[in-house]
Amino acid sequence: MVREALNQDFNRINEIGLLIKENFSTVYKIDEDIKHDYVHIYVYEENNNILGFIQIEEHFEITDIINIAVDKDYQGKGIGKELIQYVIDNTKSEKIMLEVKANNDPAISLYTNMGFKQIHIRPKYYEGNIDAIIMERSV
Ligand SMILES: CC(C)(COP(=O)(O)OP(=O)(O)OC[C@H]1O[C@@H](n2cnc3c(N)ncnc32)[C@H](O)[C@@H]1OP(=O)(O)O)[C@@H](O)C(=O)NCCC(=O)NCCS
Repeated sequence: MVREALNQDFNRINEIGLLIKENFSTVYKIDEDIKHDYVHIYVYEENNNILGFIQIEEHFEITDIINIAVDKDYQGKGIGKELIQYVIDNTKSEKIMLEVKANNDPAISLYTNMGFKQIHIRPKYYEGNIDAIIMERSV
């Protein structure tokens, strides 16, 4: 089941966030971020275990996906898809946008599978001269 994250979930979210960045908890201070009305973090929970999360920002007509990650042991089981579908079903925005590293094949496949289209490339945006791909889909 997908639900809004609670304070007690933050340690587990920061642990799963290590899949995104080795210093995830200091770069994304989720306990601070969540205080803003426009920030939402949803978790995927099964048998009282948090297996994945998605962090979004809603700015009027546009919702940005900031982070998404699924516990390594539970990847490839449709959890990422379910987290994105939850955002699609619950956002009041008209459009969902995201930015992804050009070499992150699993994430790009997930987004493409969920109807996102590439709209822009930021060349060499990331360390190591890796491009950033901007994708969007209508809600
Ligand atoms: C990207 C990520 C969230 C996907 O989550 P997931 O739960 O494994 O994805 P799902 O099982 O819902 O897969 C949905 C679709 O994504 C694609 N996909 C997922 N993992 C894939 C992989 N390893 N290789 C290729 N395609 C993949 C497929 O199209 C899949 O659809 P299908 O099963 O019908 O073929 C997960 O790989 C992850 O946590 N990665 C590390 C963190 C990260 O890079 N986050 C994104 C940047 S913030």
